Amino acid sequence: MYNTRAYSAASATSPLASSRINRRDPGERDVQIEILFCGICHSDLHLARNEWSKVMPTVYPVVPGHEIVGRVTTVGSAVTKFRPGDLAAVGCLVDSDRSCPHCQTGNEQACRNQVLTYNSPDRHLGGVTYGGYSDSIVVDEHFVLRVPATLDLAGAAPLLCAGITTYSPMRHWGVGKGKKVGVVGLGGLGHMAVKFGRAFDAHVVVFTTSPGKRDDALRLGADEVVVSRNADEMKKHAGSFDFILDAVSADHDINAYLNLLARDGNLTLVGAPEKPLSVASFALIMARRSLSGSNIGGIAETQEMLDFCGTHNITADVEVIPIQKVNEAYERMLKGNVKYRFAIDMASLRVE
Ligand SMILES: NC(=O)c1ccc[n+]([C@@H]2O[C@H](COP(=O)([O-])OP(=O)(O)OC[C@H]3O[C@@H](n4cnc5c(N)ncnc54)[C@H](OP(=O)(O)O)[C@@H]3O)[C@@H](O)[C@H]2O)c1
Ligand SMILES: [Zn+2]
Ligand SMILES: [Zn+2]
Repeated sequence: MYNTRAYSAASATSPLASSRINRRDPGERDVQIEILFCGICHSDLHLARNEWSKVMPTVYPVVPGHEIVGRVTTVGSAVTKFRPGDLAAVGCLVDSDRSCPHCQTGNEQACRNQVLTYNSPDRHLGGVTYGGYSDSIVVDEHFVLRVPATLDLAGAAPLLCAGITTYSPMRHWGVGKGKKVGVVGLGGLGHMAVKFGRAFDAHVVVFTTSPGKRDDALRLGADEVVVSRNADEMKKHAGSFDFILDAVSADHDINAYLNLLARDGNLTLVGAPEKPLSVASFALIMARRSLSGSNIGGIAETQEMLDFCGTHNITADVEVIPIQKVNEAYERMLKGNVKYRFAIDMASLRVE
């Protein structure tokens, strides 16, 4: 066991602050990574503030962060995929049972015994796992990803959650040429969905509550932008979408979007607001529409997504910040004032 630097929240109402945490010494299948960049996901904020208390109550202190990119410092004797000095990445999962039907089909994101990167029981040290707002992390090599060397590292970090969370359902629902696809909420996830929609050659329409994001949405690859508070603009798209990805972090009317689906169209929720959303049955039944959800993606698909991003030179648009600005970043994220993901430069932690 060794002791390292981190930023943690001591309670649902405390700001994140500098602290120390313990990590396990690397075992024979482990990779130890010096963290270079960690993205800030809205889930970090939901969990730091215990907003998902009914589903996964937060254990304090919590060290958030699951969009991790860094450099390998040590590998265990049985590690085959990585060597010291390699670039490496870790997303939302650091372990699972590896034996259930989900794990055996590469769907670790659905494993009932999955271990999340933070706020999950730690099988090695007891207590809970600690995330990427820290100096280093030790992870079993099965859950460590390779980062294409051509990608900007700060922009690559958000691929580990925002990237896979949008890539996976878009692939699952067949987003591609000839499909009309909506993206609701132009935040960290939403802006990645726009980039993937473009790369998959679909017709992409962004729905935003922020009229000021219109030009950015077009620059990111959208074909059309709808300001969702404008009922006339919304009406024009009634019954026309094959697929809509909803990446909104707060309460909103999903029926307005269900009504935009064509017959047999699907709306997939990836956003995880604190309170339940209400669904009007008639928005679904008249046109055999479906509503579903999606949670990140499996390890193999995460690697596929990273490789796809390497080939197509896709990264997140990031604002790089020192860790000392993390609390300010949370407040800005709540206001939708981030273009379009914060990435923490972890060198800032080492000078504390
Ligand atoms: N399913 C998964 O595996 C998974 C993975 C990661 C994150 N998530 C969840 O996905 C959600 C989005 O995460 P994120 O990191 O992309 O967050 P984010 O960067 O804060 O983006 C959320 C966007 O939602 C829109 N929005 C915010 N409040 C709204 C409101 N009251 N009404 C309508 N629209 C609103 C805003 O877009 P506009 O300004 O364009 O309206 C905002 O930029 C969070 O709930 C997060 O926990 C789920
Ligand atoms: Zn996330
Ligand atoms: Zn499993």
